[in-house]
Amino acid sequence: MRTATTIAAVRETLREERARGARIGLVPTMGNLHQGHLALVDSAREATDHVVVSIFVNPLQFGPNEDFDRYPRTLARDQEKLAAAGVDLLFAPTLADVFPKPLEKTTRVEVPELSDVLCGAFRPGHFVGVATVVNILFNLVQPDVAVFGQKDYQQLLVIRRMVEDLHLPVEVHSMATVREASGLAMSSRNADLGEEERQRALVLYQTLCWRRDRILDGARDYRALEQQAAQRLEQAGFRPDYFAVRRAADLGLPDTHEVSVVLLAAAWLGQARLIDNVLVDGMD
Ligand code: PAJ
Repeated sequence: MRTATTIAAVRETLREERARGARIGLVPTMGNLHQGHLALVDSAREATDHVVVSIFVNPLQFGPNEDFDRYPRTLARDQEKLAAAGVDLLFAPTLADVFPKPLEKTTRVEVPELSDVLCGAFRPGHFVGVATVVNILFNLVQPDVAVFGQKDYQQLLVIRRMVEDLHLPVEVHSMATVREASGLAMSSRNADLGEEERQRALVLYQTLCWRRDRILDGARDYRALEQQAAQRLEQAGFRPDYFAVRRAADLGLPDTHEVSVVLLAAAWLGQARLIDNVLVDGMD
């Protein structure tokens, strides 16, 4: 596996790969890699000939009081995992390379509406930061395929919409959420949980499944389901930002005939803000 830390180096390597006809796959990450990230790598390897993983902790998607400075940076360990997973190129650019201007002066990409609800309402500017950096990474790497996790469901929809609206020549693939045996969705932020909190954290996925099963049983009073779920999370010691049942296609409010909904939750447990979701597809 090669590692490129400059834009010139990544462009040079990929020019050669493209010249020999390779299809390029990109998995954008912020590092501190776990099995969830590696599942995206496997999927990129199956779909393309040359897999690039980017590691860049993007300051533009963190709010002023969020954990940008504390975000774990574990490059050496990540490098080992990626080499073992058969990645061809690690792209780990510096902050000054990606954002040569002060952040407040740099061009942004805004996906309206989708970016303003749910996590976007609690983290103003977050999805502008995500869309902007992903657009930059797409421009630098020019992948044929880019792979994202359904774990960040709203992010996935924002990126799909950006690709559609800006006519970007990238196929966006998505992968199901990788979970611990307990059901807890793998996440860098799980490291912020103490031993006892880690046990309690399971209630997030359990609550999503509990309300999904009611929907599968025919319940359509989504408001009531949301309230019951938020209550259960509070009882377990979470401070929920939201628990929402939304249309899977665009996160709008579903009517009772909707065939595809997604249940999404974001909740604080101690210092950690956890998010998770489950899809309910093909309802009648
Ligand atoms: P990061 O949190 O590092 O996640 C990188 C990718 O891994 C995302 O597509 C995310 O959805 C996926 N992922 C994380 N946990 C997962 C899990 N348990 N199962 C499956 N996939 C999982 O998301 C970001 O970074 C950033 O916002 C980024 C897109 C890189 C832009 O900065």
